[in-house]
Amino acid sequence: MTRLTRIAGLGHYVPPRVVTNHDLEQLMDTSDAWIQERSGIQERHFAADDTTCTDMAAEAARHALDAAGWTPDDVQFIVFATLSPDLFFPGNGVLLQHQLGLGEVGAMDIRNQCTGFVYGLSAADGLIRMGTYDRILLIGAELQSPALRLTTEGRDTAVLFGDGAGAACLEVTGGRDGSHVLGHRMHSNGKYALELCIRRPGAANRPWISKEMIDDGSSGIYMNGREVFKHAVTKFPAVILEVLADHGVTPDQLALVIPHQANMRITEAVRKRLDLPEAKVYSNIQRYGNTTAGSIPIAFSEAVRAGTVKRGDLVCLASFGSGFTWAASLLRY
Ligand code: COA
Repeated sequence: MTRLTRIAGLGHYVPPRVVTNHDLEQLMDTSDAWIQERSGIQERHFAADDTTCTDMAAEAARHALDAAGWTPDDVQFIVFATLSPDLFFPGNGVLLQHQLGLGEVGAMDIRNQCTGFVYGLSAADGLIRMGTYDRILLIGAELQSPALRLTTEGRDTAVLFGDGAGAACLEVTGGRDGSHVLGHRMHSNGKYALELCIRRPGAANRPWISKEMIDDGSSGIYMNGREVFKHAVTKFPAVILEVLADHGVTPDQLALVIPHQANMRITEAVRKRLDLPEAKVYSNIQRYGNTTAGSIPIAFSEAVRAGTVKRGDLVCLASFGSGFTWAASLLRY
């Protein structure tokens, strides 16, 4: 039998606290109009102080397990994509293994920021195809609000990001006729690493971390928004077209493109480049902001629950972000 990977079930979780653009207006010199015009975002969710990224991932995982009809004992391996782990190390994969009460299954963390879910999907797909595992739990989750500077100094990034988690249960399947992952394309260019990053703490620093670094803001998110935008609008469509060409698929055959929810203007540019109608390019950034590794699985889970994606549909997942990295996966849901 040819070993292929299918998505058995998806789940997502966002924390209950909604923070609107008007709420942010109370904290910094910004406006609902500025945020909506530049990003499309109306509101985002911020986790409570006692919630961790692993807590949100565990909630999303439980929904995905239910959707797949799995019990926790079915999980043979965890792949966890996040840039906001609970600890600097170890990664969130082991924390989730413990929190879900799983057996001593392997757990791997992916540090690819916005492309983390797609890179994670490709890694899990490879492990399943090789015969290493039959059932893998893949997570994309972020708790970014504690790292945001909710002041006028931090407004260029603080208004863009939100918290949330998504999960996918991936299992082995046999036939190319049914649901399966077709393939992936992944790229990076580290020349642009410092255009979107958190530099400190980091082992390149001497000292590793100091009070000055915290005071001068360099332990917060830095983003050269214009540089990110410029690259995103070309690399996003390019990598989508690459993965489609690998499998002889044209954009019009896709039921849905689920882009990483970076920015409404970037999503719109991608949609126009691919000449697709609005209904075929998923967007929920209005409600969640940019949830980095969480954004694709949250969107995918929502789209399945709403009936926007049905079994047998061709779906393309695509992302661009910090690194820079960019990547796309093509699958028949
Ligand atoms: N509210 C109000 N004004 C703000 C602001 C905010 N939250 N953030 C920045 N500004 C101000 C700037 O200080 C600047 O003021 P100035 O002209 O007086 O200096 C002005 O708005 C324009 O700033 P600029 O950074 O040039 O805006 P922009 O048009 O490039 O839009 C982004 C900023 C971030 C929305 C845009 O660059 C973008 O979408 N980039 C991609 C970001 C992204 O998707 N990142 C995630 C990748 S995964």
